[in-house]
Amino acid sequence: MQNALFSLKCEGQDSPVGIDTGTPILAWKVIQKGYPGRQKNFRILLSDQKENLSSLKNMLWDYKADVEENHVIYHGQELSSRSVYYWKVILTTDSGKTIESHTASFETGFLSPDCWEAQWINLSKEPLPMHQPEVNAEGEPLPVKFEEITFGPVHQVRKEFSVKKPVTHARLYMTAHGVYLPLLDGERIGQYELTPGHTMYRNQLFYQIYDITGSLTPGSHTIGAYIADGWYRGRMGFDGSNCQQGNELALLLQLELEYEDGTSDKVCSDDSFQVTEGAYIYADMMTGEKYDARLEKKDFFLNGYKNSDFRYAKVMEETYDNLRAQTGNHILVSEVLLPKNWYRLSEEEVMFDFGTCIAGRVRIQVSEEAGQEIRIEHSEVEGPGHSFTKNIITPYREQIETYICKGEPYEIYEPMFNYHGFRYVKISGLTGEINPDNFSAYVLGTEMERTSAFSCSDERVNQLQRNILRSQLSNMISIPTDCPQREKAGWTGDVQIYAATACFNQDAKNFFLHWLEDVRYCQSEDGQIPIIVPFLPGHARAFEGIGSSAGWSEVIIILPWVLYQYYGDPKILADFYDSMEKWVEYVRYTSSTENPEGLQNVTGERAEHLKYIWNTGFHFGDWLTPSVSMNPETGDVDLMQSAIMTMDIVPTFFYAYSCILMEQISHVLNKEERAGYYAKLYQKIKDAFQYEYINDDGTIKSNLQGIQVLALHTGLVEGKAKEKTIQKLVELIHENHDSLDTGFLSTPYLMDVLTEAGYKDLAWKLLYNEQFPSWLYEVKMGATSIWESWQGILPNGQISHVSMAHYAFGCIGDWMYRNILGIRSLAPGYKRILFSPDLHCGLTHAEGSYDSIHGFISCAWEIRKKDIFMTLTVPFNTEAQLSIPDASMESLTLNGKAVSCKDTNSQGIFLDLPAGNYQLTFQRETE
Ligand code: BGC
Repeated sequence: MQNALFSLKCEGQDSPVGIDTGTPILAWKVIQKGYPGRQKNFRILLSDQKENLSSLKNMLWDYKADVEENHVIYHGQELSSRSVYYWKVILTTDSGKTIESHTASFETGFLSPDCWEAQWINLSKEPLPMHQPEVNAEGEPLPVKFEEITFGPVHQVRKEFSVKKPVTHARLYMTAHGVYLPLLDGERIGQYELTPGHTMYRNQLFYQIYDITGSLTPGSHTIGAYIADGWYRGRMGFDGSNCQQGNELALLLQLELEYEDGTSDKVCSDDSFQVTEGAYIYADMMTGEKYDARLEKKDFFLNGYKNSDFRYAKVMEETYDNLRAQTGNHILVSEVLLPKNWYRLSEEEVMFDFGTCIAGRVRIQVSEEAGQEIRIEHSEVEGPGHSFTKNIITPYREQIETYICKGEPYEIYEPMFNYHGFRYVKISGLTGEINPDNFSAYVLGTEMERTSAFSCSDERVNQLQRNILRSQLSNMISIPTDCPQREKAGWTGDVQIYAATACFNQDAKNFFLHWLEDVRYCQSEDGQIPIIVPFLPGHARAFEGIGSSAGWSEVIIILPWVLYQYYGDPKILADFYDSMEKWVEYVRYTSSTENPEGLQNVTGERAEHLKYIWNTGFHFGDWLTPSVSMNPETGDVDLMQSAIMTMDIVPTFFYAYSCILMEQISHVLNKEERAGYYAKLYQKIKDAFQYEYINDDGTIKSNLQGIQVLALHTGLVEGKAKEKTIQKLVELIHENHDSLDTGFLSTPYLMDVLTEAGYKDLAWKLLYNEQFPSWLYEVKMGATSIWESWQGILPNGQISHVSMAHYAFGCIGDWMYRNILGIRSLAPGYKRILFSPDLHCGLTHAEGSYDSIHGFISCAWEIRKKDIFMTLTVPFNTEAQLSIPDASMESLTLNGKAVSCKDTNSQGIFLDLPAGNYQLTFQRETE
């Protein structure tokens, strides 16, 4: 039971079941809003009996520390597998008060691979042949011809077993090579979707844990599952080839029962498991499913199945060392949407509009003749006059579910083994009356706590925030992806660009850490970090010779750094430090030994500088910079142009930025010698950049906004050159009709660079701009998510072949939260907070919050002429400052009383605020 004062988490979860570590992280926070004080010390009590926590007897851990930290790694007596533990925390506050939490629990699962008694079983009759699409003269994969693909069928597996006595405790541990859907006596077990998710399976394969105690009455039962190709052997990667992680589907299942009388039993996968195929002709993650309801074999999952149309599974040799328990971050259905509109396209074709761009699937209920074929096609955009259009490029253009009816009234079909990015679906084969309520969209997402709230007086900005969130939710599907519509791939650049916004909106710590494990695993011997993780053979083929890319590969440094800022845990930095160093060393070595054509014979001073310029190899550069990524002939997006234009200069910025971060990270980890090393390396890069890229008049040799932004962000320009670069950036924006012209890599820093250079008004102009390209242009065009490219839909209505749900340009969220809500972190984990909303931002009110690891932080403000009304919440164990430079402190009231402020500037309000809830009123100097 949770009381209203504390939140207690074990391994980032509330009372997790089945954790596989004997040293879990226990974390707590006081959740009562604005609870006063700080933690002076904490005491953790942990036992295997709940009562012991009151009697203080037989404690497995009774640990006390005089620190303010609100998490600790368990290091008490050894924990056992399959056991429940109870714990609580008692804090003493700085005023001497003692506060005690409720009791929380966690359950261990398999603490060692030896706990697995189940055997891996191979379910496939034969290995699926690998299919690689044809490529054109440029080496680009051609659209796949459906007829040419050999899809594997979905397997059905069953095992009948008997429950001998009343059960008090039953846990099912299960995973697969493929995507599985578990069933008990024909009924679905649990709510987890697309298990076991998408990882580099050789490195980490998650198993899921299900509590099925309530379903196991004494008698016969049948445990089973459907197993589809999924990410394992379905079509994946840029070229659309299949069998990327393996070519046979397999299952691992261990059901553990404890009986009332203290005895126990197990059901383990072995060669007595029966396998067959049924209605699923195929189910592919990218291409879609084909389901022939006439071939259904649902009774296969029931007791007493008599037919002999099955084969026995084959036991296989397989490691257990890569198995990891998944105790959170499952994929779940988060919403169900009904159509907002529907349009008849032809006699048997209907288009449904679900009103918003999502990732998920469609569920239909139909009553048609046996053999009638229903096709469901997905799209994120509609064509002129509410027509159906597909804007998907790459081999994944066809994303079609096909359902063949069995001829019963009210047949329900819901594809279970893939997902799509869509807002519109075309359904063909519907002959009867249409009742739109029979068609719904199931939104999928990874379960992660929502930690943000945001609203303001401009409805357009609110819609932008909703669009940011939508794209985030649609792309957090097992791993952070680029888009749900096309590649569904873990592009590393997109993640580093968006990570800060993501963490404000959701508690994404474990989600990102799991993915980072695969990033590290995919790092090559020479230190390169791939552009996509999981990095599959198909990616390697499609991007032959591209082992890494500036601004993408730095995810190995930037993401842990962002996670440290949000979650305050230096262990995150320590865990990935070696990989970070390896990456920077790769860049240093490459820069110092390679020069592009034309610069290979340079000698003397320039040659020395060139050693610190990273200008070889392929890079995506400031990807999708609007002015250079448009094809002038077709008006469509030419994906490669901005790469070609900027790949010589952009890498050096990221080399420099890596050094800046590595210096700071080394300080955090007390690696002072390494910090010094990176500081020196940065200086050399800076000198070299100035030598190579700065003209005599101080300007940079580039006329792109993004390049000015990156030079300013990385501090590579200073003095006169800095002035000139700022001037140039401002000029370029004005010349572009006060619109941005930045790509993936520079957009995250554009607004901060302008703000810091004293051009905050221009930054606000960019935010509120409705002209193409801009954030509110997309809103004006009816966007319900963030587009991959600013040119998603051109002002003339032309639809580009880009995805409409990429989160990268949603990185503006981070700036909005800091500047509109004014919530900033001054110390890792928001241990010190700065409230500094810009009251001249053009809005009349804003309110929002961030639920940090220490507790709830909020800021709401409203302007009525010169009067400001503000409400702030500072969580327990933190401290905050309020800084409103343009306000009069004489006018200030705090919780109804006049106060005297720390006046550092003779003007402005600068106030220290300990934990608490505050209501303030004051006046601005200017309106
Ligand atoms: C993806 C991006 C990715 C890019 C590489 C695209 O196809 O969708 O988001 O970062 O390729 O530049």
